[in-house]
Amino acid sequence: MTDTQKPKLRSRAWFDNPDNIDMTSLYLERYLNFGLSLEELRSGKPIIGIAQSGSDLSPCNRHHLVLAERIREGIREAGGIAIEFPVHPIQETGKRPTAGLDRNLSYLGLVEALYGYPLDGVVLTTGCDKTTPAMIMAAATVNIPAIALSVGPMLNGWHKGERTGSGTIVWKGREMMAKGELDADGFVKLVASSAPSTGYCNTMGTATTMNSLAEALGMMLPGSAAIPAPYRDRQECAYHTGKRIVDMVHEDLKPSDILTLDAFHNAIVVNAAIGGSTNAPIHLAAIARHIGVELPLKDWETYGHKIPLLVNLQPAGEYLGEDYYRAGGVPAVVAQLIKQGLIVEGAMTVNGKTMGDNCRDATIEDGRVIKPFDQPLVEEAGFLVLSGNLFDAAIMKTSVISDEFRQRYLSNPDDPEAFEGPAVVFDGPEDYHHRIDDPSLGITPETLMFMRGAGPIGYPGAAEVVNMRPPAYLITEGVTALPCIGDGRQSGTSGSPSILNASPEAAAMGGLALLETGDRVRMDLKKGTVNVLVSDEELAARRAALEAKGGYAYPASQTPWQEIQRSVVGQMDTGAILEGAEKYQRIAQTMGLP
Ligand code: FES
Ligand code: MG
Repeated sequence: MTDTQKPKLRSRAWFDNPDNIDMTSLYLERYLNFGLSLEELRSGKPIIGIAQSGSDLSPCNRHHLVLAERIREGIREAGGIAIEFPVHPIQETGKRPTAGLDRNLSYLGLVEALYGYPLDGVVLTTGCDKTTPAMIMAAATVNIPAIALSVGPMLNGWHKGERTGSGTIVWKGREMMAKGELDADGFVKLVASSAPSTGYCNTMGTATTMNSLAEALGMMLPGSAAIPAPYRDRQECAYHTGKRIVDMVHEDLKPSDILTLDAFHNAIVVNAAIGGSTNAPIHLAAIARHIGVELPLKDWETYGHKIPLLVNLQPAGEYLGEDYYRAGGVPAVVAQLIKQGLIVEGAMTVNGKTMGDNCRDATIEDGRVIKPFDQPLVEEAGFLVLSGNLFDAAIMKTSVISDEFRQRYLSNPDDPEAFEGPAVVFDGPEDYHHRIDDPSLGITPETLMFMRGAGPIGYPGAAEVVNMRPPAYLITEGVTALPCIGDGRQSGTSGSPSILNASPEAAAMGGLALLETGDRVRMDLKKGTVNVLVSDEELAARRAALEAKGGYAYPASQTPWQEIQRSVVGQMDTGAILEGAEKYQRIAQTMGLP
């Protein structure tokens, strides 16, 4: 590419604007004072932001503080100038009341930074659950050249010769505690064994899911999502990511060239094959809306439900992050799907090549961890999208329904996809924790447990609380899981048969607000319905009575942001974004260029 063909860089509006020498000199003098030279700032070299999500508050992403050095070297090597800046932290296991509350806040902050400062391109340092969607959402809105760099998972956890996976081990530990097999100290040690190094959760939780999907969307260098954080390859990948973003700026390769409907459909297919988190539909919907792509929730069923599970990672399987990387990571999975014609091969990616060209020849390096397409771990591993008089939309991973579960809830042997049971309803996680072991609730192996008041408005940001353990007295009898249905989310590290992300939530007066303990509920997986078996008249009367009391009650906001987010946040079926923000699209191009 000759210099005249290169796109005009937006950073020139700050550093090289002869029409406004006053402001230009102000911009120049202040960016000089940490070691950049006048020569560099006026050179016309692309200025590349490193959106730094790592900090002591975000241990999952903290290793990016180290990786940033290699990103900088890559940027400089390719002829760019690096400017590193902080991104609002989102630590899944640290933020109260929910990390979900901060995805849209981090998004907002990054949009302002990318739009309002002299940046020509950006490296998004992704990792812990919501950091990945938050940053890609912002890059989508602004639409400057952007490349994601995963921090990578932790090394495998081990305890007494067995792999311990982050998050997943907590569910196991809780069961062991409930059975009296473990004391509090033993519980803490068991859980700590699953986190042996820097990096994010080593299971197929939301972090590994969202980074794998960032790669499947084409936003990350091929083969890079799965590299464990402490590996040498991760440092090398940081360097190549830094080098590549400079070329992307010269090529004017933007998120809108990559995040097409084909890319989202590829990501949906990959999500099923890797056994990805039930948080993925929320985050992909949000990214799609910010880039202006129509992605109905139903596409998850249409494109994803029939796809088999190929990746044998906890919680669905046995292995962990290091094994996933050694077995071939995302490209090995995509290659299997390409052979079946399930991937749109022409989808563009950050390295300037298509998904097909990047992955077609990738091979499985360990068949225990990544299965060939014709020998899957589970058939039909994707989600069903359900609706009925309790909600307009919710998702369910049907592959985790055990035969034993099918027997327990089957209402009619001639109709093996229809289940029925009495409801026990909890209003938020605190209510659940207080009452779950109270025998007077009358929970039996036939009960369906409901969690409401846990959606984006009710429990601001939506809590990961739908997957509830049964009462201890049932666990001792061997009933380790009951079906759970709710308007909250479920941790990607849990494998319960749940119906999740129900929209609209109770706090928005969705049908769940009208449910009462003791109501019978029927799910029909063939028809895709979940209904409470109560007449329309009765439901209307309950609605009128609840509205007369001022609607479904939920706790007051504790911070300004909780109040602001609650006033504008949408429901999970459409991404739980800040409604109205989606009308700001491709805004980098509106920047006053000289
Ligand atoms: Fe950060 Fe799991 S808590 S990735
Ligand atoms: Mg999570």
